[in-house]
Amino acid sequence: MNEPVLVVGAGLIGTSVGLAARAAGREVLIDDADRDRVRVAVAMGAGREWDGQGAPQLVVVAVPPAAVGRTCAQLLAQLPSCDVSHVCSVQSQPAHYLHGAGSDLARFVGSHPIAGREVSGPTAASADLFVGRPWAVCPVPGSGERAIARVVALAQACGAEPVVLPAGEHDELLATLSHTPQLVASALAATLTGVAADRARLAGTGFRDTTRLADSDPGMWGQIAAANAVHLARSLRAVAEPLRQLADLLDSADQAEVEAAIAELMGRGRRGRALLPGKHGRAAMSLSVVRCVVSDQPGTLARLFGDIATAGVNVEDFRVEHAPGSPVGVVALAVAPASKQALIDGLRAVGWTVTEGPEESL
Ligand SMILES: NC(=O)c1ccc[n+]([C@@H]2O[C@H](COP(=O)([O-])OP(=O)(O)OC[C@H]3O[C@@H](n4cnc5c(N)ncnc54)[C@H](O)[C@@H]3O)[C@@H](O)[C@H]2O)c1
Repeated sequence: MNEPVLVVGAGLIGTSVGLAARAAGREVLIDDADRDRVRVAVAMGAGREWDGQGAPQLVVVAVPPAAVGRTCAQLLAQLPSCDVSHVCSVQSQPAHYLHGAGSDLARFVGSHPIAGREVSGPTAASADLFVGRPWAVCPVPGSGERAIARVVALAQACGAEPVVLPAGEHDELLATLSHTPQLVASALAATLTGVAADRARLAGTGFRDTTRLADSDPGMWGQIAAANAVHLARSLRAVAEPLRQLADLLDSADQAEVEAAIAELMGRGRRGRALLPGKHGRAAMSLSVVRCVVSDQPGTLARLFGDIATAGVNVEDFRVEHAPGSPVGVVALAVAPASKQALIDGLRAVGWTVTEGPEESL
C-alpha cells in the first residue's frame, strides 16, 4: 500500500500526517486553502505541494469540522478514482452531508486519530504525534473494503493502532472521552477569573493538571460541539448532575449524607479511572510515589536521575511540582512498590531529601 496520499488541510493534524507518512516512505502531496500553510508544511518536510496533477490513491481531509463534509464531497466528485477519508473529531455530521449530497460512499470512510495538541497550525505538527495512539476508522453504510484498508494502512504507517468503529458509536464515545473533558476543563479554569492574580498563584498541581485542555482553540471546539450536540449535551449532564446534587446536599449541611454522597461519587470516579489503560496500553498498575526536593538550578535533574540509576531503580513515571514563589520544587517519582525502599535509601544516602507519597495507578 505504498501509494501517494493527498492531504488537504496543512494544519496540526494534516501536517503531522504528512510528516509521519513521509517518514514511513509514503509519497505525500499537500493542499490547503491558505498557500502560506502549504509552504510551511512543505518546508517542514511533510510532502510536496499539490498542483492538481498526479494520481493520489487516497485523500485525507484535515480541515476544520464545519468544512469536512463539503470538502470530502468536492474531492469525491473531483477525483473519481480516489478514496477519500478525513481525520475529523466528529463522524456522523460529515457522513450525513455526503449522504445528502449523493456522494459515492463506496470510496469514503471517516477516521479520527485520537491524538492531538492544544495548539493548532503546521508549526505545531510532529511526525510522532500518532505513535502508539488509537486511530478510529469509522465506516458508514456503503463504505468499501478498499477505502477502509487504505486508511487502516495509513494509520499503521503513521505508527498508530487502527480501531474500526461505526460513526455513531464513535461520536457517542468521544462525547464522553474527549468533548466533555475539554469543556469541563474550560469551565473549571474559568472559575479562576474571579480570583485575584496574586491569589491564583496558590493553585496547586491538581488545578493545573485538570485544566490543561483549557488553552485549546475555541473556534475548533465550537464546531465540534455543534456537530455532536445530542451526545455532548447528554454527557455534560452526566457530569453536572452529580455535582448539582452534591451542592444541594452541602447546602442542607447534613454531614452524614454529604460524606456518603462523596464516598459514592469518588468510588465511581476511582472505578472509572481504573478503566483507563496504563503505560504502554497495558492494564493500569499500582505504583509507589517517592517525592524528592530539588533546587531550581542547572544540572539538578541530571544529577537526580544519575543517582536513581546508581540505585538501580526504574522510574515508571515522574512529574515536577513547583513551589509557588520558591526556588525549589518537588519531583514525584512513580516506581514499582518493590523498588520504593531501595529508591528512598539510595537517594537519602547521597543527600537528597525524600518523602513517601500516596500510591498512584499508572
Ligand atoms: N487538534 C487536534 O488535537 C485534533 C485531533 C484529532 C483530530 N482533529 C481534527 O483534525 C482536523 C484539523 O484540525 P487541526 O487541529 O489540524 O486544525 P488546524 O487549524 O491546525 O488546521 C486546519 C487547516 O485547514 C485549512 N482549511 C480550512 N478550510 C479549508 C478548506 N475548505 N480547504 C482546504 N483547507 C482548509 C486551514 O487553512 C488550516 O491550515 C479537524 O477536523 C479536527 O477535528 C484535531
